Amino acid sequence: MDLTELPINARAARINRRVEHLVNRAVRLRDRVRGRLGLGGRAADYDDERYEFVGGPNDEMRKRHYDKSLRLLWKAEQHAPWTTFRDLTEAERAVRDMAEQAMSPADKQARARLGSREFRELLDRTYTPRQKQALVNILSAIGHGEAYAWLVSATNLRDVRSSGAKAAVTMQVLEEAKHFVVMRELIGAFDVPVPRQSAWEYLLLEGVLRARGLEKFYGMNVLVETIALSIFGALAHLPGLEILRLFHLDESRHTALPQSYFKDFPMSKWQQRSPLARSRRLRMALPTLPLILLLEEDLAVLGVDAFDFAGSILRKVVHLSERAGFLLPRPAPEMLARFNKLFNAYCKLTRPGHQFRDFMTADTSRDAEVARVEHEVFVVGDGVSERVGERPRAQA
Ligand SMILES: [Fe+2]
Ligand SMILES: [Fe+2]
Repeated sequence: MDLTELPINARAARINRRVEHLVNRAVRLRDRVRGRLGLGGRAADYDDERYEFVGGPNDEMRKRHYDKSLRLLWKAEQHAPWTTFRDLTEAERAVRDMAEQAMSPADKQARARLGSREFRELLDRTYTPRQKQALVNILSAIGHGEAYAWLVSATNLRDVRSSGAKAAVTMQVLEEAKHFVVMRELIGAFDVPVPRQSAWEYLLLEGVLRARGLEKFYGMNVLVETIALSIFGALAHLPGLEILRLFHLDESRHTALPQSYFKDFPMSKWQQRSPLARSRRLRMALPTLPLILLLEEDLAVLGVDAFDFAGSILRKVVHLSERAGFLLPRPAPEMLARFNKLFNAYCKLTRPGHQFRDFMTADTSRDAEVARVEHEVFVVGDGVSERVGERPRAQA
């Protein structure tokens, strides 16, 4: 290649290289010594000599979570055209327009792109004011959770090792940011007051954000994401809320993240089993119970039994925790039996004529697509399989 090389002072260049060499050795020695003395060494867990984060490439994790999340990245402009988002590329917009031209008039009408006004009218036509308020009360509980999911996943970025795991967690940060901002517009479209966080959500989410190291994986990816997943699952079949299927799909990938990660960087037996860690995990989850009691009224307005809902969440949380290695104070069947007794005792007190029921086998997800995804995550049991969080081909 014909480039005009410029003259330089060779001596100055040699001196600059030498100075850099000396400073480099001094800086790295200082940080190594400080690190060994526990005074805080290099801040970044980055291995620039290998051009890799500490922990190695971990391409498996990258493919399973980062590549898949990018492949399934959904845009609000396409799936919720009534929002203010303009996030489609020129090419994506052209493909969408071409696909619409090829549709029959009936299909076109069925898939009409609703503007903000039409969407609000659809919600007004479909739901009573009380139903709208119930939906907002429930959705905002998870909307506040999305804010914390965004923060917690961003802090997890510092805690996970390997380039692949950092890439995977980065996609979670991006998806949580999207969930938060899109959910705010969805909730705003209902035009009813948006409640603050309840005390129970406040305690639950602050507890998760304060958790140490990868215990945040338990608090967020296992516990809070399962609650989110269950709320999306219970509501995604309702008119105007179809976009929750996409949230649900993302959350299902997030619940599988700890199990994928621990395959390569397992927790020690002590981290899994220490009595202190087990009881901390149970304590972190406890605000969920009064939260569900608080939501009982709103869930009832929508035809969802709060204890069926709570039972299905607990079943999923307890199994996911055990599978990822976050052991709880007692084995899963025993924990579930105890909670079931507690729920039945409460119902006996508050519901006339209540008969003992097994709430732990209940499922409140009504949507077929949601049920398929949950079957793979919770029943098939392979939380790290390639298919978890995948859209069926026709939809993808
Ligand atoms: Fe989320
Ligand atoms: Fe999530």
